[in-house]
Amino acid sequence: MMLNDKVAVIYGAGGAIGAAVAHAFASEGARLFLTGHKLAPVEAVAKDIVSADGSADAAAVDALDEQAVDKHLQSVIDHAGRVDISFNAVGIPDTTILGVPLTELDVEQFSRPIATYTRTYFLTARLAARYMVPNKSGVIMRVTASHSRTGIPLVGGYGPAQAAMEALTRGLSAELAPQGIRVVGLRPQAMPESSTIREAFEPRARASGMTWDQWQQLLASRTHPRRLMTLEEMANVAVFVASDKASGMTGTIVNLTMGSLDD
Ligand SMILES: NC(=O)c1ccc[n+]([C@@H]2O[C@H](COP(=O)([O-])OP(=O)(O)OC[C@H]3O[C@@H](n4cnc5c(N)ncnc54)[C@H](OP(=O)(O)O)[C@@H]3O)[C@@H](O)[C@H]2O)c1
Repeated sequence: MMLNDKVAVIYGAGGAIGAAVAHAFASEGARLFLTGHKLAPVEAVAKDIVSADGSADAAAVDALDEQAVDKHLQSVIDHAGRVDISFNAVGIPDTTILGVPLTELDVEQFSRPIATYTRTYFLTARLAARYMVPNKSGVIMRVTASHSRTGIPLVGGYGPAQAAMEALTRGLSAELAPQGIRVVGLRPQAMPESSTIREAFEPRARASGMTWDQWQQLLASRTHPRRLMTLEEMANVAVFVASDKASGMTGTIVNLTMGSLDD
């Protein structure tokens, strides 16, 4: 198995991407420490994994709170002795900015996603790295979005937030790779199975005079296979990136937009 006995911490594990990655990591033999804002969704994912003979522990951890993240990581070290993989899939929905033109946003609304997304990624990466450095081994991963590289209307500061996390991925890698730690981002396009994508896209589809179905078709038409990616496909790539098979990969973002966004 590709992740046999790897100790993995996932932030936002109760969400669509976090849960898909948790299942994929577990099926490849990882020991999982799943965290989320609310305990119940994370517990449900952990329960499914354990009932399929996987290893998963669940905890409520606010991934914007430095002390909470560090306390949890310390408990992972106490139980498992190390952390091999840190995967941040935290999503911070902000309904007050979706569908609103930039010219109508105030500066606090605009800045909020930039501050929160970079904060959670910086905290979880920095704290994990401190536990990984003594072992000279580890992988730090974060999900971003195509908004980092292309202009998408009516999402406020979400695009700049994604671009900042991609820049942070490169900066972390430049500092940590010499110490044996890889840092890699995953940039999927919208995966319609995830409920938050529908919630995020519907106001924008409406503002553009389209239905949700028409919006999905438009996005799919821009990909080479003319369809959108599934959560399982994205999670399979995450497994590879987290595994030792990807030892040559760091300081980069994996483009999972299936051709709709050129590198
Ligand atoms: N889904 C897609 O198709 C897609 C495509 C490209 C990029 N992305 C990006 O990938 C990220 C995850 O997407 P998703 O679809 O998995 O979103 P999601 O289903 O909404 O999951 C996000 C998770 O983050 C958790 N979270 C929010 N604030 C937190 C905090 N302070 N501490 C800990 N956990 C927190 C949420 O927990 P609670 O529910 O308990 O608050 C939720 O479980 C987002 O940034 C999204 O923009 C998604």
